[in-house]
Order: sequence, then structure tokens, then C-alpha cells
Amino acid sequence: MLEPGVIKKLDEVVVNRIAAGEIIQRPANALKELLENSLDAKSSHIQVNIKSGGLKLLQIQDNGTGIRKEDLSIVCERFTTSKLSKFEDLTEIATFGFRGEALASISHVAHLTIQTKTASERCGYKANYSDGKLVGAPKPCAGNQGTIITIEDLFYSMPQRRQALKSPAEEFQKISDVVSKYAVHNPHVGFVLRKQGEQSALKTQACSTRAENIRAIYGAAIAKELMEFRYKDDMFKFDLECQLTQVNYAAKKSTLLLFINHRLVESPALKTAVDAVYSTYLPRGQHPFVYMSLMMPPQNLDVNVHPTKHEVHFLYQDEIVDRIKQQVEAQLLGSNATRSFYKQLKLPGTSELEDTQIQDKTQRIYEKEMVRTDSTEQKLDKFFKPLEKSDSGLSSSSSNETPTGSQEESFRVIAARKSKEVRLTSVLEMQQSIERKCHIQLRGILKQLVYVGCVDERHALFQHETRLYMCNTFALSEELFYQRLVYEFQNCTEISVVPPLPLQQLLLIALESKTAGWEPEDGDKSELAANAVSILQQKAPIMREYFALRISEEGCLESLPALLPQHVPSRAQLPIYLLRLATEVEWEQEAECFQSFCRETARYYAQLDWQDDGDMRSQHWHMEHVLFPGFKKYLLPPARLKQQLYELTNLPTLYKVFERC
Ligand SMILES: Nc1ncnc2c1ncn2[C@@H]1O[C@H](COP(=O)(O)OP(=O)(O)OP(=O)(O)O)[C@@H](O)[C@H]1O
Ligand SMILES: [Mg+2]
Repeated sequence: MLEPGVIKKLDEVVVNRIAAGEIIQRPANALKELLENSLDAKSSHIQVNIKSGGLKLLQIQDNGTGIRKEDLSIVCERFTTSKLSKFEDLTEIATFGFRGEALASISHVAHLTIQTKTASERCGYKANYSDGKLVGAPKPCAGNQGTIITIEDLFYSMPQRRQALKSPAEEFQKISDVVSKYAVHNPHVGFVLRKQGEQSALKTQACSTRAENIRAIYGAAIAKELMEFRYKDDMFKFDLECQLTQVNYAAKKSTLLLFINHRLVESPALKTAVDAVYSTYLPRGQHPFVYMSLMMPPQNLDVNVHPTKHEVHFLYQDEIVDRIKQQVEAQLLGSNATRSFYKQLKLPGTSELEDTQIQDKTQRIYEKEMVRTDSTEQKLDKFFKPLEKSDSGLSSSSSNETPTGSQEESFRVIAARKSKEVRLTSVLEMQQSIERKCHIQLRGILKQLVYVGCVDERHALFQHETRLYMCNTFALSEELFYQRLVYEFQNCTEISVVPPLPLQQLLLIALESKTAGWEPEDGDKSELAANAVSILQQKAPIMREYFALRISEEGCLESLPALLPQHVPSRAQLPIYLLRLATEVEWEQEAECFQSFCRETARYYAQLDWQDDGDMRSQHWHMEHVLFPGFKKYLLPPARLKQQLYELTNLPTLYKVFERC
């Protein structure tokens, strides 16, 4: 009989070695960590010395701040850092380092020596480390300000890793690649890279320029074809600085240097987008050279997603990639002065590069992990109602047309107004608060969800990867409309109310309804209605100027804000909404006024006219083609919305169930 294995706690050295193996995968990773430490220490000169592709020796010398003598005893322990103290600091982190793990990891897989001197100490100190600990006491030594870190016999403690690495020449190539990219991005710092005992393989001066460094490192052929451009996007809040080759230049190897908030990262999505633009200009198999530096508010960037930090997640990723693609396209189109190029015609039926999912071909994907995301294939509605021709495609999930009659005749959306810059601090703060509270993982789920079907008036199903979720659509819509109002402040498009509706009558209808909760002691209804009208008329300028809600001098409602394409708010709920605007909005204080107006309006917009007449097609259509695209595109979900999402099941679990059957 097979006995289960005994579970034991791993020895600390083993744990640390395993963790270190994730962070330091090859010499180039170790070097990247050390370069980033030197840059964090404000160095202006960094020199790297390599022997045997970094496996025998990897040494880096900088002229930065140095390390204080008192810190030398703990500097190589795990989770010791001078850069981060609270988890919250991560949202605003401006240094490369934050975990305090790099030196510790290196010391678990190599022999590590630190020699360092700060400006205030009279002499320098040299210390040896092994498995996270200082070996012996630091010894005083002579030296200039800065730090020399020496790593010898990398992976001596992990023979398989050492064997699996490519030749020293290839490892050197990868190291050179990292140094080259950092040198281009940091022209204010001088870099030198050399193989031990040889002349420098790479050298840049401190205070040079980016273009000079590209020429010095990547060659004149690239440098002479470079175009430079900058682009600022206020909507998705990023700044882009880009140097890219014109279409006369083409190479077998594609080079993309991508820095996001100064971090060297990879982004398959961006790479695919850039390649796709160039692919229409360059011959097949030929590629450009592109340098991009993207800056965004640190709160929008999650840097803690990969042990080697070569991957980051950020808000509005798809939108930003899209915008960058457009900019690159525009640059290439505009640079046709002296161009001679091949334009490849795309044959009908060939799929666009950007549409294909990038998948590592060597990686096996099991059926239970396979994700079907083509929403046009199957929908929940199909199980309930056979599709008939006369359905005119309404319940057909692939339809993108508005069902006839879903738009009220008396509500018409009119053209957008010119965009005005918002200067009010209260509104900017509301926007910032939305961004601060945005839950990045939840945003990731919403962005990639695939709509499955409607459950009832307030619930719908969607798929994300291998999971099936049910969500409260009312809660999501309410937040969505709130955010749309905050972001469209002063710039809302109007939905005209034709003919205009008299407020007095609407408010009377509201007071008649049970929801209003009118009691005889509240006073005469028409008097109450008249009071409410006068409040609304008094506040009309605010609503008109900031939210495109117009009330005429005669007291008629003329327009409402349009917050989402094809979404027209409920007519049935309009009277109650207006009553609540008069009674629930804090009109006297600026910030509270905007806040409560947006909340009330969002609540109103989230209520759909859901007639229970057995024909829910237009409501289902609305959910799928109006609200869900809105969630995907705009909603920045705060963490509290997690409670409105229920994971019903997932593919691996279903497989287990069916395997048993
Ligand atoms: N070249 C250097 N010059 C000055 N101080 C340094 C240098 N290298 C490391 N340090 C100091 O040692 C500490 C530990 O470095 P380590 O790289 O292990 O962690 P970190 O940079 O704080 O975080 P991370 O693990 O994310 O890189 C740093 O916080 C910094 O104070
Ligand atoms: Mg570090």
C-alpha cells in the first residue's frame, strides 16, 4: 500500500536558497539588481567587470552614497532595506528597490563581498557575506566614496542551475544587453562594461545625451534613422518619450527598450502593438529599433508582480497600448520625406498580429486550463430560447445593433461639447480618490471579462479565464455612472428631453409614489413640489454648467447628462430622482455637493426600466452591449466591489466533478 509522505518544515537555508533562485535566475539578473542599487544610491559613474560571463566574477563599482558601517551587519539579511518601511509606500515608490531581497538572494547563491565608504566616514569598510550573514567583522580599508560589490562563483551552491546556463559568451551578451539599456535610459550616468583584463566593451560618458548613447552602443546605422517624439496623455495619465527608427532601417532582430517609471520591463502587449505597426512597412522578418520611456503616476503601477521585477501591471493597460500604437503609426506616416519602403499587403483572411494571443509554444496547456473567450460562440440566452429569424439578431450574441424601441423617443443624445479642463480641487480630488482606491486585480478581471448572460434584473454571469463569476450589475453600474460623472465633469454630453418636462408635475408624481414616503404632516403636496422646484431652479446653473442637466426658466427639464453610449436613464424613476436632487444633495458645500449629486445621479442611472412582460430582450441586450462594455472600458473598481462578485465555479473544479461521474 502506498503511504502518504511525511510533511516537514524546510530548513531555513533551503527556503532561502529556493527564494534566491527565483530572484537571481542568471548573471544578468544579478547585475540588473546591482545596477539598480547603484542608481538608487545616486551614482554618476558605474563600472562593471566580468569574468566568464559573470559566473566566475561579477563586480560593480559605483560612486554613490555608500552604505553606513552600522548597516553592514544586516545589509544581506532578507527583507532589510533603506527604501521602504510601510506596505503603503509601495504605491508611491520612486526607487528601484523595495523588498530588501536582492543582496540577500545573491549571498545565498554566491560568495559576496561589499566594500563601501560613505561621505561622512573617514575610511571605507570591506565585509564578506555567506547565506545572508556577515562573515567576520567588517575590515577598515582605503577607498573612494561609493560601493564595490563583488560576486564570485555564482550558483556554486546550485550545480544544476550552473550547468543549465548557456555559454559564458551568451551570458556576457545578456549582461551587456542590460548595461546597454540602462546606459541609454540614464545619459546622466557614465557606464563602463569590461571583461576582466580586456578593454572596455561598452563606455558612455556622464552627462551625455540619449541619442549619443544610442549611437555609441547600438551603432551609427540606427542612430541616423532615429526619430524622436514625446506625447502626453491627460486622459490615461501618461507621458511617453520615444526614439524609434524610420522605415528605411530594418534589422533581423527586433530591439525594444522599454522603461516604465524608469524600470526596465517587458510588455508583450506593447511589443506586439509596435511590431504590428511596423509590419505594414517593413519586409517580413525585419524589425525596428525602438526606445520608449513611459511615465505614469506611481499609484497606477503595480511593481510587485514578478520576482525579477521585469514585469509590471498598470492601470488602463489596453488603452495606453492603443494610444501608443496610434502615436507610433502617426510618426511613421509623418516621416515619409526620404523614405523608400516595401508595404506588405495583407491578404484577406490573415489574422492581424495583434489579435492573436501570444502563447509560448513549448508550454503545454491542459484542456481544463483552456480558456474559451470568444463570446460570440455561446451565450446563456441560447439555452432558454431557440434563435428564430424574426429575432432580428437581438438575442443573438453577435448582434451589435440597438434593438428597436430601446431608446425613448423623447430622450435624444446631442453632439459632444468642447472639452474643458477641470481645475476645481474638489473634483480633482474625487478623481484621485477613485484612482487610489482602484483594486488592480479586480480591474484586470473586469477588463478581460467575457459576458455570459443575464440572471435577473440585478445579476449577470461572466467568465474570466477559467472562472465563472456572478456579479451584482446594479452595484457595478452605480459605481460606473458615478465615475463617469466625476471624469466627465464639465464635459458631459447632453441627452435632450424633447419636449421639455415640467418639474412641478414630475415632482408631484414623485410625491404620489410610495417610495417618497409622504405623510400628511409633511404638508401639502403641491406646496412641497413647488418648494422642490424652486430649490432645483436656484441650483440650475451648477447642474447646467457642470453636469449638462438643464432646467429652463419656466421650470422644465430640458436635458440630462449622457454618461455611457446608448444608455438612456429610466423614465419611470425620473420623478423620484428629481425629488432626491432637491432633498438629498448637499447644495451648500462644494465638495459635498458634487459628491452627493454624483452619487444620486449614479443611483438613478443604474436603475433600468425592467418591465416584467416576458420579453426581456432589450434589457438583456442593454446589459451585454451597453453596461458590460462600460465596465470593461471605464470602471476602476474599488476593493469594496469584490463583495459584489461571486465565483460560482471554475474549469479545474468542473473537471474534477466530471472525472468522478
Ligand atoms: N550600491 C549601493 N550603494 C548604496 N547602498 C546600497 C547599494 N547596494 C545596496 N545598498 C543598500 O543595501 C540595501 C539592500 O539592498 P537590496 O538590493 O538587497 O535591497 P533593496 O534595494 O532595498 O530592495 P530590492 O530587493 O527590491 O532590490 C539597500 O536598501 C541599500 O540601502
Ligand atoms: Mg536592490
